[in-house]
Amino acid sequence: MDAAAFLFFLFSSFLLVLTTLPQAKSGDAEALLSLRASIDPLTKLQWSTGSHVCTWQGVKHCLNGRVTKLVVEGFNLTGTLDGQSLNLLDQLRVLSFKQNSLSGEIPPLSGLANLKSLFLNDNNFSGEIPASLSSMHRLKVVVLSGNGIAGPIPPSFVGLSRLYMLYLQDNRLTGAIPPFNQTSLRFLNLSNNALSGKIPSTPQLLKFNESSFVSNIDLCGEQIRKQCPETETETETGHHKKNKKKLILIIVLSVVGFVLLCVIIIALLMLSRKAVKKKDKAVVVEERTPASGVASGGSRGGGEEEGGGNKRGGFSWDEGGEGLGKLVFVGPGDERMNYSLEDLLKASAETLGRGTVGSTYKAVMESGYIVTVKRLKDARYPTMEEFRRHIEIVGGLRHPNLVPLRAYFQAKEERLLVYDYFPNGSLFSLVHGSRTTGGSKPLHWTSCLKIAQDLATGLLYIHQNPGLMHGNLKSTNVLLGPEFESCLTDYGLSPFRNPDPQEESSGASSLFYRAPECRDPRRPLTQQADVYSFGVLLLELLTGKTPFQDLVQEHGPDIPKWVRSVRDEETGSSDEPVSEEKVGALLNIAMECVNLSPENRPPVREVLRMIGEARAEGNHLSSNTSSDHSPGRWSDTVQSLPREEHLNI
Ligand SMILES: *[C@@H]1O[C@H](CO)[C@@H](O)[C@H](O)[C@H]1NC(C)=O
Ligand SMILES: *[C@@H]1O[C@H](CO)[C@@H](O)[C@H](O)[C@H]1NC(C)=O
Ligand SMILES: *[C@@H]1O[C@H](CO)[C@@H](O)[C@H](O)[C@H]1NC(C)=O
Ligand SMILES: *[C@@H]1O[C@H](CO)[C@@H](O)[C@H](O)[C@H]1NC(C)=O
Ligand SMILES: *[C@@H]1O[C@H](CO)[C@@H](O)[C@H](O)[C@H]1NC(C)=O
Repeated sequence: MDAAAFLFFLFSSFLLVLTTLPQAKSGDAEALLSLRASIDPLTKLQWSTGSHVCTWQGVKHCLNGRVTKLVVEGFNLTGTLDGQSLNLLDQLRVLSFKQNSLSGEIPPLSGLANLKSLFLNDNNFSGEIPASLSSMHRLKVVVLSGNGIAGPIPPSFVGLSRLYMLYLQDNRLTGAIPPFNQTSLRFLNLSNNALSGKIPSTPQLLKFNESSFVSNIDLCGEQIRKQCPETETETETGHHKKNKKKLILIIVLSVVGFVLLCVIIIALLMLSRKAVKKKDKAVVVEERTPASGVASGGSRGGGEEEGGGNKRGGFSWDEGGEGLGKLVFVGPGDERMNYSLEDLLKASAETLGRGTVGSTYKAVMESGYIVTVKRLKDARYPTMEEFRRHIEIVGGLRHPNLVPLRAYFQAKEERLLVYDYFPNGSLFSLVHGSRTTGGSKPLHWTSCLKIAQDLATGLLYIHQNPGLMHGNLKSTNVLLGPEFESCLTDYGLSPFRNPDPQEESSGASSLFYRAPECRDPRRPLTQQADVYSFGVLLLELLTGKTPFQDLVQEHGPDIPKWVRSVRDEETGSSDEPVSEEKVGALLNIAMECVNLSPENRPPVREVLRMIGEARAEGNHLSSNTSSDHSPGRWSDTVQSLPREEHLNI
């Protein structure tokens, strides 16, 4: 090799090193710069390699030097989205370009395998929704509203199993609405497009009202109270066949009906002869085993006392021929659920638990729709009119942290309350596990904070009604929503407790949630008593211990020490400083709540403020990784939303 060739070789290797090294080191910076060339032809974004990529405008979060959150909103960006460079940012969790003037097609984004939230709303995008979005399995939030997007909603979106929010309103979408059935779906808006056909009546889509579907060309379905036309597509012969089938069906049905009628008449005759006037037991639910002890497995979806096995049976009425009466729907506006008392009667019922005011059942109707039914123990107290008035108030409460009370039924000897069914179980089962998943564990502090905030938010909403309180706050009465948010149930029922102390048979554990001044059932409950229960619940979250003993009497001022020792034991004492600080803040809040004198307990508004402060404090210390640990599943979604646009986009 001669000298010149050697020099050339050296030079070219040097060049090679020069061009490859920085790329390997700062891939995201390179990707962002080439992205800027497409989205920002006027170079409004002040991005330069002179500073670290994590400090660039719009880069809101980094993890191990990689960009995880890119939020560039309202920058008047006028270009198009270059999919190739965007897909290199494969650590992105949140991507927002909302309120710009980006145009062209939305490129396939399947390289962004970690993306949870996508906001491209209020731009000038055209073309179709890339079907490849449905391969991004972590997607929870998809907001593409306010563009000029045409074509269909990809049917494969049904497979996005974590989808939580889908906002596609104000576009030019056509075709039918896919049969979304993911239970996670909470926010949906398809208004102001050119969609057509029947809105599928999956239980998940039935949750949305016309406000999610207005201004389309030709939609029909229950949600918008518009009947779909009969499909007249059959041929002549098909028609005949169908008619023939119909005729046979009618004959068979009438024969069966006649036989049934005879059987019923005979049965009634025999009954009326035999039956001594015995009218108790209005709802008969087969029950084989008595409710098991205090800390038995997690109740699922029902609230109230845990325990009770899986008993199947049906609701049936034995009323003395006075007519069935009606399910009365409650709630703001003309919100009406699509089931009736008859559906409920035909439903199969499963006992979820038994508690101080009554038993709770999971009722699966023939349509497959599931509700939670609470059957009150005592239908004589208070009077029907008082009951109705109180339920109208409690049933009017609607809040994301409350399990909605949808309807009630009352007859002389029977009172039922119908709630939405929450399939994700209770806070009790989350904290204490079920028999199959093993024992209790203190929750991670991120979860404690989130749950505490949810609970206080729901409680504050209840307390805004003068004289109204939860009255029975405990971990079995907190159900987990679709996004594992905490929702209060069994609220506002304390007026239905029998005032006779003999009748009260609350389990030991629920007694220790109750403020000391209210343990005698003749003493009225107060909002301050709710605050006490909240404090006990917070201690339960922090320690993973059921309050089977009077924590407050037992440990007194030593509670903080005790809580810390329990946590150290369970989680190992290698807690990060952040954890130390947050747990300390929560402990202080709990201690204020369990103050023995009611007048010294903070009002819930104050409690909520303190929790908010604890959440915000020293957040710069915490890395995003901590929220990725289980059981922080819910915090994923909530924390991955850009802060300011939580629910109002
Ligand atoms: C975007 O444009 C509007 C009006 O043209 C202007 O008021 C606004 O300041 C611009 N925003 C940015 C971030 O440049
Ligand atoms: C949006 O894009 C269309 C072409 O797709 C163009 O005609 C229109 O002027 C654009 N509107 C804005 C506000 O940029
Ligand atoms: C939803 O529908 C899809 C496709 O029809 C089906 O595979 C899936 O099991 C359904 N999921 C639920 C929760 O019903
Ligand atoms: C429809 O549902 C939305 C929330 O999803 C609610 O804000 C609105 O009041 C409801 N509208 C009607 C007419 O019930
Ligand atoms: C859906 O979007 C339309 C049009 O932007 C709006 O009027 C409506 O209130 C929205 N509904 C919901 C439930 O978000």
